[in-house]
Amino acid sequence: MVSTRFDDAASAVVVTWPDGVVGTFPFIWLRDNCPTSFHRETEERTFDLLSVPLKVHAASATLTEDDLLVVWTDGGHESRFALEWLRAHRPGARACDPAAIEPALWRADLGADALPKAHADALEDDDALLAWLCEAKRYGLALIDGLEAEESGFDVARRIGFLRRTNFGETFDVVSKPDPNNLAYTPLALPLHTDLTNQETPPGFQFLHCLANEAIGGGSLFCDGFAIAEDIRRDDPLSYGKLSNTLVPMRFHDADYDIRNRERVIRLDEDGRPAEIRFNAHLAGVFDLPAAEMTDYYRAYRAFMAATREPRYQITLKLKAGQMVVFDNRRILHGREAFDPTKGVRRLRGCYVDRGEWDSRIRVLSRAKGREA
Ligand code: OGA
Ligand code: ZN
Repeated sequence: MVSTRFDDAASAVVVTWPDGVVGTFPFIWLRDNCPTSFHRETEERTFDLLSVPLKVHAASATLTEDDLLVVWTDGGHESRFALEWLRAHRPGARACDPAAIEPALWRADLGADALPKAHADALEDDDALLAWLCEAKRYGLALIDGLEAEESGFDVARRIGFLRRTNFGETFDVVSKPDPNNLAYTPLALPLHTDLTNQETPPGFQFLHCLANEAIGGGSLFCDGFAIAEDIRRDDPLSYGKLSNTLVPMRFHDADYDIRNRERVIRLDEDGRPAEIRFNAHLAGVFDLPAAEMTDYYRAYRAFMAATREPRYQITLKLKAGQMVVFDNRRILHGREAFDPTKGVRRLRGCYVDRGEWDSRIRVLSRAKGREA
């Protein structure tokens, strides 16, 4: 049986479930999250938090079969909470989120054949799209084939979310062209990198749709920046500390733009785990650390760079016309071999959908399956 009591010291209601789960619900939290605090249609919070004192007090908290009824001393307002909702939102525990997918770190031994893969036609089914979105997020890298039409890659991206516009446009063509403003638009090899590290928020998921890859060379390579970070953390904690604490300048500039930012190569989340990798040697600015710290920083930065060159981290594949590779640009590094544009056409079309929209699509599609809290 569920039981409840007041914890006067904590100014909280404590609820204990039969399986031993205990939730401690501070009065001010309960008052703020009263179901009447939210607009009936939009479900946005409309409650004015400043309309009650911080030390708001519950006069009583009683259980019914499925609810907790709290009556407030202040004006006799009543709040009725579903016990199931309270359990799912108990303070100190993260609420269930279908998009909170644990990354599966990978190295070369995963092999290109093991990457999540789908045929574009299959992704028209919402359940298949949801499964693919979850797997693509878990590995940070996935493939789609069956995309013959010019715009079909963008159509898939738009089904997931609106496209992230950057200084290269809403979409971009990766072809060797005259007067390039980016090394991607040359036939040169591109070492493993993440795109647009110079942006305040680099684009999230990148879509590279191959329309032709007939040139000699032009193969693609990928590595998991989180796996490299994890290995550096284990083997070289000093470098890990430098890479995750030191902000360095990153910059893109051409005739029209000069976009700069200062960030860490490895940004950690609130739990101290890698949340984002920014690594692009071409967009690295001029490091501006105090001279005395420079060599140690370079040691760390070179350790990351050296890891990106190690085949044991790399998956290589040669995209064929009609295939699209999709990857989390804030985790997975991508690169390509040089190619000879005089010996055949190589044309990719690219766009981005940010992480927020990707995760939103996972949550909305999960609603239909009743998996959303
Ligand atoms: C890019 C890029 C890879 C390729 O456009 O950012 O890295 O295969 N392209 O051309
Ligand atoms: Zn790139």
